[in-house]
Amino acid sequence: MTADEMKKQAAYAALEHIDTDGVVGVGTGSTVNHFIDALATIKHKIEGAVSSSIVSTKRLEAHGIHVFDLNEVSGVAVYVDGADESNHFLQLIKGGGGALTREKIIAAASKKFVCIADESKLVDVLGKFPLPVEVVPMSRSYIAREIVKMGGQPVYREGFITDNSNVIIDVHGWTIMEAIKLETELNALVGVVTNGLFAARPADVLLLGSESGTKTVYAK
Ligand code: 5RP
Repeated sequence: MTADEMKKQAAYAALEHIDTDGVVGVGTGSTVNHFIDALATIKHKIEGAVSSSIVSTKRLEAHGIHVFDLNEVSGVAVYVDGADESNHFLQLIKGGGGALTREKIIAAASKKFVCIADESKLVDVLGKFPLPVEVVPMSRSYIAREIVKMGGQPVYREGFITDNSNVIIDVHGWTIMEAIKLETELNALVGVVTNGLFAARPADVLLLGSESGTKTVYAK
C-alpha cells in the first residue's frame, strides 16, 4: 500500500466524524484533497464548508460544495486537516503546504479537530520535519536571526508566497520537547504571523491510514 493510498483511507474514514446539516472546516494538502473528494459524496447532507486555502476552495467549488467565509458562519463543528508530523499528544507540525495560518484560524474556531494522515506521520518527538513559520516579508531577516538565537536553523522558502501575501521560514534542527512553549515564544516575535506548531490547540482525534486499516488515535 502506498502512502497516498493510506492518506485516502484516512480521508474517507473522516466522513464518520462529519456532523450533517453543518459547516465543515477543510484544511489543505494531498490528504485533504482526498477528503474533499470524499466530502463530495455526502455534499447534499452538509450546509457547506469553510476553507483554509485558495487551492482547497477551488477543489471544493469544483465539486459543487458551497464555501463560506469564516466570518459568515457562527461556528464550525468539525475541522478536518492533514499534518506533517503528530506526536502522541496529537500536537502537530503543519504548514508543509504553506497554509498554516488559515488552517490554525479554522482549527481554533472549530469544536472538533480531526487530523488525517498516513501512519508515517506519527512520531515520538516533533522536529524532524522542518517547522514552518509564516512571517511578514520585511521581518524575514530579523526573525531568522532571532530563530538562530533560539537554536534553530532557518531556511527561507524561496519563491513561495502564502495566500496572505507573506513568506515562510522553515526551521531545521529542533527537537521539540515543549511544543506549547515554543509555539508561544515564536508567536511572540514581532513579524511572525503564525508558526506551524499546533500544540496549544492540538487535534482531538488522529485517523491514521495503514496496511491493517485506519487506526484511531486519541491524545495520551
Ligand atoms: C498544509 C499542511 C498539510 O496538512 C501538511 O503539509 C500535510 O500535507 P499532506 O496531506 O500533503 O501530506 O499543513 O499547510
